[in-house]
Amino acid sequence: MGRVAGPYVPDENDRELLRMLHGGGEISGEEISERLHMTRAAVWKRVQRLRSLGYSIESAPRRGYWLAGDVLRPDDILAQLHTRWLGRTLVCQDVVDSTFHLARDLEAAGAPDGAVAVAGQQTAGRGRLNRTWASPPDAGLYFNILLRPKLPPVQAVRLTPAVAVGVCEGLRGMGFDARIKWPNDIVIGARKVCGMLLEMGGDMERLRFVSAGIGINVSQGAEDFPEELRDRATSLAQETDRRLSRTEVLCVVLESAERAIDLCYADYGALLENYRARSATLGARVRATSATGEASITGVATDINENGELIVQDDAGAPHVLRAGDVSIRGMMGYV
Ligand code: BTN
Repeated sequence: MGRVAGPYVPDENDRELLRMLHGGGEISGEEISERLHMTRAAVWKRVQRLRSLGYSIESAPRRGYWLAGDVLRPDDILAQLHTRWLGRTLVCQDVVDSTFHLARDLEAAGAPDGAVAVAGQQTAGRGRLNRTWASPPDAGLYFNILLRPKLPPVQAVRLTPAVAVGVCEGLRGMGFDARIKWPNDIVIGARKVCGMLLEMGGDMERLRFVSAGIGINVSQGAEDFPEELRDRATSLAQETDRRLSRTEVLCVVLESAERAIDLCYADYGALLENYRARSATLGARVRATSATGEASITGVATDINENGELIVQDDAGAPHVLRAGDVSIRGMMGYV
């Protein structure tokens, strides 16, 4: 019996071509053929094959080739990702209800520590304190990191600062002045650019997994946010003139998250120091409101303890220990 041809699998030349296209802008057929050492006709044939795989590659005479939209594809991500263990198992779908569900399926199927679930769009993205997380196509990055930490369950809380430091340092490495609004919002200036939510599975004796869901606003314009959020939300595109692809941002953030999680396991004290150093909350005057909205205290955020809890000294001088799941924090001069 003859062999049935499987789907076309991109080779190294295709990946190089995609890297060039992901660099942004238009690239002439001549430049591609020179860099890949092939004829213009061979370049065209490759472009056609990539289009048949779903890549939205536009072309026009005398202009060249460029990528339409901001497509997330597992091959591209893996080609650009330089990690040892984080994201080496990766699932990427166009549309899901929530990447938490994608990660839950991965977990149930026995996926290894560091597996990552990414989606181009979510129809039911979840935020902290039972809020929703708007997840329109093309604009944001929506992904979950599945961890299987060798930590006692009481130490699972350590992963909240680890993931926050990882994302924050990744964005700083890309030139953004990112800081952490306790417990794990990433802000640029006084506006939120990223939110994250961590869930754990296991029992009193054993931590089976931690699933960290991360949403980063990449290319939303101010008008894409609801009116009431405009002074509190931003996107990377609003903070830079550089053209960024979601693939690039994802890879940089995963590389940095790997370093922060490794540090968390090796030297938690050092990780906490980084978390405090990057905090936009420490030293600020804040109002903490309980998740139910019933109680609130006003004071100054003075410290973050070993468990990642925020210490707020109220106006009468009394210290309060605040746990991330129980309260929301607002700066008295605005969001941060
Ligand atoms: C927050 O409220 O700040 C947390 C937002 C977390 C959003 C991310 S997007 C990827 C993952 N999947 C979800 O449904 N939520 C998280």
